Amino acid sequence: MSHSVSYTKDGDIGIITVNNPPVNALSQHVRAGLSESFIAANSDPTVATILICDGRTFIAGADITEFGRPMETPNFLETLLTMENMSKPVIAAIHGTALGGGLETALCCHYRVAVPSARVGLPEVHLGLLPGAGGTQRLPRLIGAQAAVDAIANGVQINAKAAHAAGVIDELVEEGKLLEGAKAFARKIVANGAPLKKVRDMNEKVTGVDPAIFEKARATAMQTRRGFKAPLSCIACVEAACTLPFEEGMARERELFQELHDGMQSAAQRHIFFSERAASKVDDMPKDVKLLDVKTVGVIGAGTMGGGIAMNFANVGIPVFLLETKQEFLDKGLAVVRGNYERTAKKGRLTTEQVEQRMGLITPTLDYADLGSVDMIIEAVFENMPIKKEVFAKLDEIAKPGCILATNTSTLDVDEIAAVTKRPEFVIGTHFFSPANVMQLLEIVRGAKTSFEVLATTLAVAKTIKKIGVVVGVCDGFVGNRMIHQYLAQGQYLLEEGCLPDAVDAPVYDLGFAMGPLTMSDLAGLDVGWRIRQGKGLPASLPAGQRYCEIGDRICEQGRFGQKTGGGFYNYDPSTRSKQTAPEIEKLIVDYSKEKGIKRRKIDSEEVLERLMYALINEGAWILEEGIAQRASDIDVIYVYGYGVPAYLGGPMFYADQIGLDKVYKRVCEFAEQDPASWKPAPLLKKLAEQGATFN
Ligand code: 3HC
Ligand code: NAI
Repeated sequence: MSHSVSYTKDGDIGIITVNNPPVNALSQHVRAGLSESFIAANSDPTVATILICDGRTFIAGADITEFGRPMETPNFLETLLTMENMSKPVIAAIHGTALGGGLETALCCHYRVAVPSARVGLPEVHLGLLPGAGGTQRLPRLIGAQAAVDAIANGVQINAKAAHAAGVIDELVEEGKLLEGAKAFARKIVANGAPLKKVRDMNEKVTGVDPAIFEKARATAMQTRRGFKAPLSCIACVEAACTLPFEEGMARERELFQELHDGMQSAAQRHIFFSERAASKVDDMPKDVKLLDVKTVGVIGAGTMGGGIAMNFANVGIPVFLLETKQEFLDKGLAVVRGNYERTAKKGRLTTEQVEQRMGLITPTLDYADLGSVDMIIEAVFENMPIKKEVFAKLDEIAKPGCILATNTSTLDVDEIAAVTKRPEFVIGTHFFSPANVMQLLEIVRGAKTSFEVLATTLAVAKTIKKIGVVVGVCDGFVGNRMIHQYLAQGQYLLEEGCLPDAVDAPVYDLGFAMGPLTMSDLAGLDVGWRIRQGKGLPASLPAGQRYCEIGDRICEQGRFGQKTGGGFYNYDPSTRSKQTAPEIEKLIVDYSKEKGIKRRKIDSEEVLERLMYALINEGAWILEEGIAQRASDIDVIYVYGYGVPAYLGGPMFYADQIGLDKVYKRVCEFAEQDPASWKPAPLLKKLAEQGATFN
């Protein structure tokens, strides 16, 4: 019998136990073990069979590493049929998470019991898939079409209590006593002569469903997940459960599953799933690194970022001291935090008590002494090196030994900041993205002297506050902003060479990006970069041979700083913020080209797309070469979680792999020939292209 599935007996009850760490995924040997065990259990003189799992969870789904290849026997559907057709009751005993194929397995059992801490769900949509083992046909028969569409198309996890109320779980059993509870349940239903309840037979079809629910679900999916194919296929399958008999519904599910499975979107989303988990691994980290305790936190600066950073900790119950230079700045910062919470409460996602409880966890202060006992301090003051150094010198005086000192700088040298302290090994960068309480990405900047303990603890803190932490090295802009700088620069060069704003933005938007480079600049505020460039004395101070486009500066000189001032590259409706073409800016662009003696030309959307994407990719290759990112997939994670690149593209480096690095490199070389001032082909890109290799 398979090493990962065992069959034992406790008197009159058969017990099949899956043990396939870490999450009991349905790998080939598990499917084989389940089939064999159920056949054995069926011919035993027992009265019922329990399916239970060892370790931290019930079956968490199909083995995702097996996707993209032909499925080895036994076929999962056949395994499930063996179970469902057992001649005595089968009871799934659920703890942890029964997800995807795990829940589909449980739905083929005749009954389900769970501990209260368990969760169930069909999250396949997040992998660009749909539940492909009957989930789309069985779940609606159990809980109705609307609830099934909500659960499947959004891939949400439902807690055991809600699942019990919905009828997915038949009985909740005492926490920590799952097997005992399942045995008692089994004996009870056998004694009561309960039938072999097959979900598939509950209804021939799901009836009485208003077709409008599917139209509504499609409209929402197209709006909130533009370009994603899987949500629409999930909805189509649930719809099939309402219009077709079970077997035909299953055939429809199979067909749409296969289509998604074989497509590029799912390959990209699976890449992001594994990349996200790989990102928390540091190649040279020793295995036995001890984590430091982070139970209380200090945040310096209650501005745009500081307030949001403090909210992250309060949201997970960690007390925060928020320090400012003046009471009025504290009051202002806290008012913004409260406003954010109250808006969430208005939408029904927090109770008034929760708002107060979270506000209660944030203690405002003007006194550094209050931070003397905290475990981690995150600095978010002005982006100015002398001020940062002054703050870190102060922190070095007051922070307790072992306290992590983090900076939220977006451009400054973390090592230079660390050097003003007597404990550079405790200094690290935590680069949050704006709005800090919303954006999932956290670039964790590893300084030259940052210790493994501090790095590992910061990664753990990221997980605690529900961020995706990606370790990056010290350089101007780290990974995300350093790459975006090249992309935004190409956006401006395209303007002076012949494009108008919409022609620059549309190709990447059509590819799936949340917005194009110019709309992104308008949203972030054009003044931020303008002030930095002014501070650097640009363009006068520009080193010889470098390219510079002044269009952004000229727009700022008119007091147009983007969305917040009602205009930037585009005009924005003051009430709706809807974007409109700005004829005055189009004229400015055309006049600028003339003034600079640039002959405007027609640039097709393919060239626009290539220039923007390859600027990202080429800089990404430099970043890899310099060791600023550990692996290409880390860059992909940064772009998906920090820059609005849809997961179905898999990030810029995965995208490059799909195009073919030889093609990308060839175009980059052509661009460099035409414009050597802004293109420097990365040696790593050249090497991989010549080897016929990929980044990932
Ligand atoms: N297949 C293969 N490996 C998996 C896996 C799966 N279904 N789920 C998790 N893993 C791996 C992870 O890659 C990770 O590996 P690593 O340690 O080498 O990095 C390890 O298991 C632990 O995973 P997490 O770090 O995510 O552990 P957590 O405890 O934080 O979370 C979890 C556990 C909630 C189960 C989470 O792993 C998860 O959401 N997994 C995916 C669940 C899922 O999407 N299931 C549906 C699969 S598709 C399917 O079932 C198709 C079917 O309909 C036919
Ligand atoms: P901000 O100007 O909104 O807030 C800075 C706050 O720090 C102000 O409230 C100010 O009163 C306070 N402050 C200044 N000196 C101080 C001192 N010595 N002690 C205590 N408080 C002090 O700035 P923002 O945007 O919040 O930026 C903060 C840091 O975060 C900067 O390093 C910035 O580069 C970085 N960052 C900003 C992002 C953004 O989108 N705004 C994104 C990522 C990082």
